[in-house]
Amino acid sequence: MMTIYPLLTATSSAGTSPAGKGTIWLPEQASTAAERGDVLFYFIYYLSAFFFLLVVGLTVAFVLKYRRRRGQPVTVTPIEGSRRLEIAWSVVPAAILVGIFFWSFSDYITLSVPPAGALEVRVLAQKWSWSFDYPKHGIVGATELVVPQGRPVKLTMSAAEVIHSFYVPAFRIKKDVLPNRYTVTWFEATKLGSYDIFCTEYCGSGHSQMHALVKVVSTADFEQWAQTGGGPPDGKKLFVAKACATCHSVTTDRMGLPGPPLAGRFGQTETLSDGATLTIDDNYVRESIVAPMAKVVKGYTPVMPTFAGLLTDPQINALIDYIKTLK
Ligand code: CUA
Repeated sequence: MMTIYPLLTATSSAGTSPAGKGTIWLPEQASTAAERGDVLFYFIYYLSAFFFLLVVGLTVAFVLKYRRRRGQPVTVTPIEGSRRLEIAWSVVPAAILVGIFFWSFSDYITLSVPPAGALEVRVLAQKWSWSFDYPKHGIVGATELVVPQGRPVKLTMSAAEVIHSFYVPAFRIKKDVLPNRYTVTWFEATKLGSYDIFCTEYCGSGHSQMHALVKVVSTADFEQWAQTGGGPPDGKKLFVAKACATCHSVTTDRMGLPGPPLAGRFGQTETLSDGATLTIDDNYVRESIVAPMAKVVKGYTPVMPTFAGLLTDPQINALIDYIKTLK
């Protein structure tokens, strides 16, 4: 049975981050930031556990030791206080807190400043997909973030319309992505593999399906990938990665989605909202992608966002070719 969330099913099989590699507290470590940050996390965690057990243990021990016993007179000795003890329990925790502050501040600075010579990638967030440009390699609109292992990668991010948030759990990086302003983050991947990218800012009905992958490859594989411009565009993959699947069914059944179903439509006659009719051809599909409001199909709400500037010509061609194959 087909699901009403085609994108979700598509990505859950494509998402290859193995859930089992992390610990009970944290996901897998796959970046330098994860290695650094986790040490601090576990330090604070075990420190808290130690003092929790110490305080609770002593409380229980004292309750038992000084409990009222049958047949013993109740004697109360007033406690005068102990200056030594009070200084100790003030100074020691304060010193630990100051230590944690400088430790985390130094990590924060490291995480905030991308190292010189980092590979620069532009990240574009839109409802409801991610795309990646590599200005030095002339790659535009890649649907996966492909990066070399062991090299810092600087991400300059912006959003098309509303606030999104870029989150890679395995890298321990998360940063809001805003319209009309760039935000920057960076990472250095330490392990080969595929890791999930999630959106962590509620951005509309497709928010939970706004997923992509970061693929960490060897330097040689990265150079090869970059030289071929990320390979020829694949219409079927783009259809999922660019979130077309969020609104368009690839069967003849609409399946409750906002947009018209696409199977078997190419070459057919379409009736538009103003009553006009036309034949669905390459030009109409292209126009529907870059200017969706121009000719809305009768019976549908004009809600599709424009993909002008978000897809290259070869990508649009690949999408049209894919739509032609849908039967
Ligand atoms: Cu984009 Cu949530």
